[in-house]
Amino acid sequence: MTLGQLRTFVEVARAGSVGGAAAALFVTEPSVSAAVASLRREIGVALVERDGRGIRLTPAGEELARYAEQIVGLSSQAVRAAREAGGGPGHLRLVGVTTAGEYVLPPLLAEFRSRYPQVQVSLEVGNRATVIGRLVAREADLAVGGRPPAESQISGEAFLDNPLVIVARADHPLSARRSIAATAIAGETWLLREPGSGTRETTEELWARKGIAPASVMTVGSNGAIKQAAAVGLGVTLMSKHAVSAELESGSLAQLRVKGTPLRRSWYALHLERTPIPRSAQLFLNLLRSRAPVAT
Ligand code: PGA
Repeated sequence: MTLGQLRTFVEVARAGSVGGAAAALFVTEPSVSAAVASLRREIGVALVERDGRGIRLTPAGEELARYAEQIVGLSSQAVRAAREAGGGPGHLRLVGVTTAGEYVLPPLLAEFRSRYPQVQVSLEVGNRATVIGRLVAREADLAVGGRPPAESQISGEAFLDNPLVIVARADHPLSARRSIAATAIAGETWLLREPGSGTRETTEELWARKGIAPASVMTVGSNGAIKQAAAVGLGVTLMSKHAVSAELESGSLAQLRVKGTPLRRSWYALHLERTPIPRSAQLFLNLLRSRAPVAT
């Protein structure tokens, strides 16, 4: 089995079709089919099966795809790490959750670039589920997000406080209150990020802890859109203070002083356990560590 065949299989799994994989790889469909057939012959079990007009992976194919993703990712990581160690230009491949990518990482990257101008930087921004997927597939060397997922191969190092606050339109009737019972906001419409978002997960945990069964929920797929929606009175939301500090300062949004908030969380540098961290990612990790609050 070759790396090329595995790479092709990863694309088939992602695209869900031979045609989609061929388009992603800029090759012909027969060459994709030939790679899949060759893997099937070598492994001895069916990897894909017909599904209407397309194909889907068999359980064996699903299992192979999980490993293939990591093998392909690890091989490209190995090539980059060796080039870097041999004096070649470094490449920091970073992935950040939406909130961190928008509000936390830019100043840190500016500092990193001024210290290490020779290192090329790519930052992919996605929600928590995307970020975890990129790390596991080794398509990123380092990630920044909320706490590491439980029972995963990902470890996390907290480097910055991440208070989460509940905000609403500036003239919300509760905005002047000094202490608000959680039950008082259960009747509000809650603006919630998309499934896969860490902020959404945290909001749902807060509801469960406080016994809040929200009367109505509106899913809105970005922090920016949620802030605009909250500002015009569409609902309340829980959000990282890093994402709303400008609006709280300008007065376009108000913080609701709900008991038990702000939630005290941290931003974490996330990386795969038992996996070498390429040099440029290590340099960025060191910069994050230098920011970590000192435990007293
Ligand atoms: P999110 O992630 O931007 O996907 O909501 C935030 C987090 O992981 O805490």
